[in-house]
Amino acid sequence: DKKRDFEGKTVIVTAGPTREAIDPVRFISNHSTGKMGYAVAEKAAERGAKVYLISGPTALKAPDGVIMIPVSSAKDMQSKIMEHFDEAQIIIKSAAVADYAPATVHDHKIKKSGESLTIELVKNPDILYELGKIKGDKVLVGFAMETQNLIENAKEKVTKKNLDFIVANDLFTEGAGFASDTNVVKIIHKNGVVEELPKMTKLQLADEILDRIIEIKRT
Ligand code: PMT
Repeated sequence: DKKRDFEGKTVIVTAGPTREAIDPVRFISNHSTGKMGYAVAEKAAERGAKVYLISGPTALKAPDGVIMIPVSSAKDMQSKIMEHFDEAQIIIKSAAVADYAPATVHDHKIKKSGESLTIELVKNPDILYELGKIKGDKVLVGFAMETQNLIENAKEKVTKKNLDFIVANDLFTEGAGFASDTNVVKIIHKNGVVEELPKMTKLQLADEILDRIIEIKRT
């Protein structure tokens, strides 16, 4: 029997990469495929939640029963989250958001000219940090993608972004991170407890994440 323990709850899940436009032809992005976030959205819907899946561009089909909201840039993602923020009790941020975006978006294709080209980047809003400031009673879960000092860096993000817990993956671990159907993560709780999970599919991990959210009393 499937659990329906998210019945009556509204969950916002973010997934995929963001795209930061340089000109009408080019953008800055990253390797996120959306698999992790779509798995979380799928499981949350299966367990009875109303799910807003706010996703950067991916090649994936929206899971059954979720409300799909496609976005492109980090700023788009932030404004779509804010549209549904009041309604949600739970926010899970699996998206790989660009930290910087081009300072100006050119109206026309940049023409090839000199031997080098410099693109100035400016800081994007840190969506999760901003949500952390206004979260109130909501459960806020982040992800952390690291290539070194996984636990230390992830712990810092839990505190700074006011999260309930963070799901940390190391890009250089076999079977973890971008594009694979599996992930290998450590879950770091706000009280500092670190759980080391074995390699599992992203769908199994999605259930593990949801199990921990439901254990949080106020959910
Ligand atoms: O999509 P897949 O191919 O399945 O890959 C899954 C994944 C590797 C993308 C996923 O498991 C993952 O780690 N997602 C978070 C990637 C990331 O951006 O990590 P970060 O450590 O840079 O950011 C920390 C947290 O802050 C994240 O929850 C991120 O969504 C959020 N953030 C970051 C920057 C920013 N400007 N705004 C944010 O909200």
